[in-house]
Amino acid sequence: MSSFELFHRPRRLRQNAAVRRLVAQTRLHPADLVLPLFVKEGAAGPVELGSMPGVMQHSLDSLVVAAKEAVAAGVGGVMLFGVPTKRDAIGSGATDPEGILNVGLRAVRDALGDETVIMADLCLDEFTSHGHCGVLTADGRVDNDATLERYAEMAVVQADSGAHVVGLSGMMDGQVAYCRGALDAAGHTDTLILAYAAKYASAAYGPFREAVESTLEGDRSTYQQDPANGIEALREVRLDLAEGADIVMVKPALPYLDVLSEVAAESDVPVAAYQVSGELAMIEAAGERGWIDRDRMVRESLTSIKRAGAQIILTYYATEVARSL
Ligand code: PBG
Repeated sequence: MSSFELFHRPRRLRQNAAVRRLVAQTRLHPADLVLPLFVKEGAAGPVELGSMPGVMQHSLDSLVVAAKEAVAAGVGGVMLFGVPTKRDAIGSGATDPEGILNVGLRAVRDALGDETVIMADLCLDEFTSHGHCGVLTADGRVDNDATLERYAEMAVVQADSGAHVVGLSGMMDGQVAYCRGALDAAGHTDTLILAYAAKYASAAYGPFREAVESTLEGDRSTYQQDPANGIEALREVRLDLAEGADIVMVKPALPYLDVLSEVAAESDVPVAAYQVSGELAMIEAAGERGWIDRDRMVRESLTSIKRAGAQIILTYYATEVARSL
């Protein structure tokens, strides 16, 4: 070899597994992970979703079993979504204490108490016949302020049903402040608000439609964010923080790591990210074909999301990965 002096050898830090483990900067921990769960009204047992391999629509019984398994694996929390059998224009099932999401919340809270953090998706799209996240005006637009009334009612019913956290995912302006006010007025001052602060109008929610059996008329681009915009996410986060959000979230995760890292730098409350249905579907589909190593991709995707700044990660892989850690 010629006589140039090679002092800096970054490869020294990668020479074997023990050194790599010592210097690993990002470590996943089971408690970072939150498992989203779907509970379907009237279901007799779990049914696997075609576009989300390994993910189930649960019956009430299997919901409780899955939540207990997640907790046994050490996950930090569970996030519940309801799949109703009937839908209407205002999403009545969302605020009915006997609506499937609220019944599911009671079942999980009865079984687990305060052993884990129980979260509820707070949005109308699972419950509306048109599939939008809010109620509509006569000419078919999503009515922001009328929707806030529905969300406030939903927040109180979910807290009454046992949710420790309400996850505001509808992207209506003012939803955090409005729901905070309603929760406090009802005596739920300890109920946390997880704000989907920066939620993009993403193609990656596709398989979720199958999971909640929802059909959407039109699209969500008048309320969810344009994928082209980054700075807007910081504005959304600032507003949600000012309105009293306890946790802010970026969603989807992997295509928005730049946004996530900027939000993490700006936020003085915990930051979450949601690895959504389409992110799982892409990993599973490519894995099934043998085009990628599915298990490594799962771990790498979650590590990347944490490295970018997410302290909490919502992922359908929560139980599986928690067990493997
Ligand atoms: C709204 C909501 C959606 C998801 C979580 N909450 C759907 C949407 O906004 O279109 C998507 C989650 C996923 O794709 O995994 N209720």
